[in-house]
Amino acid sequence: MSRILTGIQSTGRPHLGNILGAIIPAVELANKAENDSFLFIADMHSLTQIKNAEELQANTFQVAATWLACGLDPEKTTFYRQSDVPECTELTWYLNCYFPYQRLKLAHSFKDKSDRLEDVNSGLFVYPMLMAADILLYDANYVPVGKDQLQHLEMTRDVASRINHKHGDVFVLPEPILQKDAQLIPGTDGEKMSKSRNNTIDIFEDPKSIKKLINKNIITDNTPLEEPKDPQTSTIYHLYKLISSEKEAKKMEKELQAGGYGWGHAKKDLIDAVILKFEQEREKFNHYMNHPQEVEDILKKGALKAKKVAQATLLRIRKNLGYSY
Ligand code: ADP
Ligand code: TRP
Repeated sequence: MSRILTGIQSTGRPHLGNILGAIIPAVELANKAENDSFLFIADMHSLTQIKNAEELQANTFQVAATWLACGLDPEKTTFYRQSDVPECTELTWYLNCYFPYQRLKLAHSFKDKSDRLEDVNSGLFVYPMLMAADILLYDANYVPVGKDQLQHLEMTRDVASRINHKHGDVFVLPEPILQKDAQLIPGTDGEKMSKSRNNTIDIFEDPKSIKKLINKNIITDNTPLEEPKDPQTSTIYHLYKLISSEKEAKKMEKELQAGGYGWGHAKKDLIDAVILKFEQEREKFNHYMNHPQEVEDILKKGALKAKKVAQATLLRIRKNLGYSY
């Protein structure tokens, strides 16, 4: 059985693009019987950016509620919050001491910001070593990541190899699983849906707000109702196709091409589809948000499982490095 581990950023409430592009595929992978999956909310990494305690906590809860609402099975997957297993910070220190400063300076996560050094805290600088610790602490075999995280994986393998070279086989070398570029989910303006663009659709909103948002934010041209319209250039059609059955998508395509079916009709069909498709997820998400103790209990239970593994690994590492406890 392979151990698959991945960390989830906790930067606020996930939108439709995150959910279709990243969360649902990851839940499917995690729930597979043949995988021993570890999934955690990287709330210590968030501290490099977020300094407001309420915001930090609210983000974690919303992200946890989203993954649970989207079908993550916490009995099958070890699902925990990074900060509940502070053993990873001890390992980060060890890794820091074995990884050259000059190499860390090359990390994209730091370099991207090195023209604004006044905004860079030391945590951001050693971010890749905290990520390496997250992975090495659990002897992970595989780490599903997007392209932007591949360099961090290389650094993880590099620091692990340096320590293995000096002290024997202390660490398992993890392999990345490069996630295919997810199908790009367009936002209400037709560009890539993204928090930073203000073009997101929040599937957890109440149906009335979803309706209002789609009606207001998706801009259409003024082709008259009776005239034929091109589905391929329509954001409404693209979004509808992503969440409805093939048959339904075909129907909208034909109706648009035939004419007599206006943008208002298409929007109404899209709104109904969004509301219906994610009805269960919305209910579950709201349930978890109204019962934070349930989320807390799930995360705490996951942390206990994770801690057991972490403590055993840490003992092995300490011994190898010359600390005998
Ligand atoms: P945002 O652009 O809103 O800040 P993030 O960069 O935090 O989103 O992305 C989190 C995850 O969701 C990543 O794995 C990313 O690939 C995926 N994702 C984000 N936006 C989209 C989108 N529009 N289509 C498909 N996947 C997306
Ligand atoms: N840095 C990752 C990101 O920005 C999140 C992360 C933290 C992670 N620790 C990890 C991913 C360990 C995989 C493994 O998406």
